[in-house]
Amino acid sequence: MPEKRKIIIDTDPGQDDAVAILLALGSPELEVLGITAVAGNVPLNLTEKNARKICELAGRPDVKVFAGAVRPLVRPLVTAEHVHGRTGLDGPVLPEPTMKLQEQHGVDFIVETLMREAPGSVTICPLGPLTNVALALIREPRIATRIREIVLMGGGFFEGGNVTPTAEFNIYVDPHAAEVVLRSGVPIVMMPLDVTHKALTTARRVEAFRRLGTPVGEATAALLDFFERFDEEKYGTDGGPLHDPCVVAYVLKPELFKGRHCNVTVETASELTMGMTVVDWWGVTSRPKNAMVMRDIDADGFFALLVERLGRL
Ligand code: RIB
Ligand code: CA
Repeated sequence: MPEKRKIIIDTDPGQDDAVAILLALGSPELEVLGITAVAGNVPLNLTEKNARKICELAGRPDVKVFAGAVRPLVRPLVTAEHVHGRTGLDGPVLPEPTMKLQEQHGVDFIVETLMREAPGSVTICPLGPLTNVALALIREPRIATRIREIVLMGGGFFEGGNVTPTAEFNIYVDPHAAEVVLRSGVPIVMMPLDVTHKALTTARRVEAFRRLGTPVGEATAALLDFFERFDEEKYGTDGGPLHDPCVVAYVLKPELFKGRHCNVTVETASELTMGMTVVDWWGVTSRPKNAMVMRDIDADGFFALLVERLGRL
């Protein structure tokens, strides 16, 4: 087997984060060097616990889980219990974790790992607000030239926003962190709402997880049954968008996605459009192209990959 691809998952579980973590842990091509939790969908004390719950569900209590930033760089924390439930992982009943949280701060783990591993060998997969990644870049600017790629879920343009008319949740919660990341010079792949809204957890797709007949399959179906209800009601669709697993699926099979290298700039001044990602999709400005922005997905291929890999856990 070719050398495993080394990744760090930065996350605010969240049901869709949970499925992304399961996809990573069910994929032998990947080596998950660590999981860093960030405040987002729910406060940090819950996101770090949820990350440990998911590692244990996957039978991987060996995975190192770290707690990172407790709030955004500048703005007060905004959470999303109305979407994810009070625990952030409502749906299945998952046992309290017994694996320990790492002592080291998540930001220090990111910096230390990037400075230790070979330059260009580690991919960072942010699935929540970008606070930890921004803090790592500020704490140790040298990591910017050592990160292979940042593949993140966040933003939206043609699709608009999901927390305000113009802003997607991860970017809205910490727009200043998003600005640090977008200006870092690190190669970025962005999975915005424009693509994640094409990956809907239809009843047939959720049933495929349940038919795995395993604890992971059952828990995943329960996670999605809970998670999708908010967006089904809002958008009137069969199923809700499965955002975060798009990040890990891209690392595994980039051919599932189509996009364009563009300039992406984030609004950090106007309250009206705070956190909006302005994507120069048509190249009408001379702003530097700083992100590969995905807009299309082979949704059936995406869900087939998910079922196959989660079936291995
Ligand atoms: O807007 C969707 C994003 O916000 C996803 O990462 C979801 O988990 C929430 O964090
Ligand atoms: Ca998330």
